[in-house]
Formats: sequence, C-alpha cells, structure tokens
Amino acid sequence: MALIRMLYFSQAAQGISTEQVRAIQQTSQRNNPAVGITGVLVHGGGMFMQVLEGPEQAVLRQYVKILDDVRHTDCQILHISHADERTFEKWSMGLIACKEPLGFECIRVLEHQRTEAIKARVFKDAMQVFIKMLNAAQ
Ligand SMILES: Cc1cc2nc3c(=O)[nH]c(=O)nc-3n(C[C@H](O)[C@H](O)[C@H](O)COP(=O)(O)O)c2cc1C
Repeated sequence: MALIRMLYFSQAAQGISTEQVRAIQQTSQRNNPAVGITGVLVHGGGMFMQVLEGPEQAVLRQYVKILDDVRHTDCQILHISHADERTFEKWSMGLIACKEPLGFECIRVLEHQRTEAIKARVFKDAMQVFIKMLNAAQ
C-alpha cells in the first residue's frame, strides 16, 4: 500500500490549554492505529506542527477532518509526498510541547522538496535537528 507523509503547520486556537492539546493526542492515539497512521504533533508558540504518515487515503481522510477542527486555523502544508518508509513508526501520535515559538528554519529545507518523495533518512535528519532544537529551547 502506498505510504504518504504530510507535514503541516497551523495556528493554535487562542487560549488553548495543555489539557485540550493532551485530548487531541489521546483521540489520535485512539484512532490512528486502526487506520495505520503514525506521526508527531508539536505544539508551542501558538502553533501546531504535525507529521502524519500512513496509507494515502487514511492520511488524506484524517487531514480533511483535522482541517475542520476549531482548535486551530490556517493549516498550511509544508511537505507532502510518497514515502518509502515511516519516520515515526513507533508513534501513533507523539506529542512534543515547547515553550518557545517554533523555529522552522531547519525544516524549511523540506519545503524546497515539497512534493518530492525524499528518502526517509533526509526527512528523519531534518526532524531530528528540529526536535533537538525544541528540546534545547525548553
Ligand atoms: C492539530 C490537530 C491534530 C490532530 N491530529 C489528529 C490525529 O492525528 N488523529 C485523529 O484521530 N485526530 C486528530 N485530531 C482531531 C481531529 O480533528 C478530530 O477531532 C478527530 O479525528 C475526531 O475523532 P472522533 O471522531 O473519534 O472523535 C487533531 C486535531 C488537531 C487540532
């Protein structure tokens, strides 16, 4: 089955609480395994960044639902492509909370290859730099 990987940003709803974000993660962890979606959700600086990976139909169906969610607005896809393997195979939906505004520079490289099926390695490297940077900012 063809796997895709999608990375988007959105503006979190004003005043969204930690509990509300935890609830999103819990819903995701409940729903995603059944449809084969894995990924990570980063929340901080009034923004969300999410990677969804899985079978094409499942990811697109879920993204359409997510677009309608009032807990955020202004979804923007930064990267979407076929994927040869998963980057977050062990995470039905990991959650990373960071206090600082998200620093996007290190994943902007992915925007240049917005629709190219880049190797999991390249994607993983960019995500690792990003996650390390978020951890360092805690
Ligand atoms: C930023 C963000 C990311 C989300 N990610 C997921 C997700 O990965 N999986 C999921 O099932 N719901 C996710 N949701 C919630 C969906 O928008 C929606 O509420 C949910 O799919 C409804 O599930 P239910 O029908 O089981 O209540 C997300 C919501 C937001 C705001």
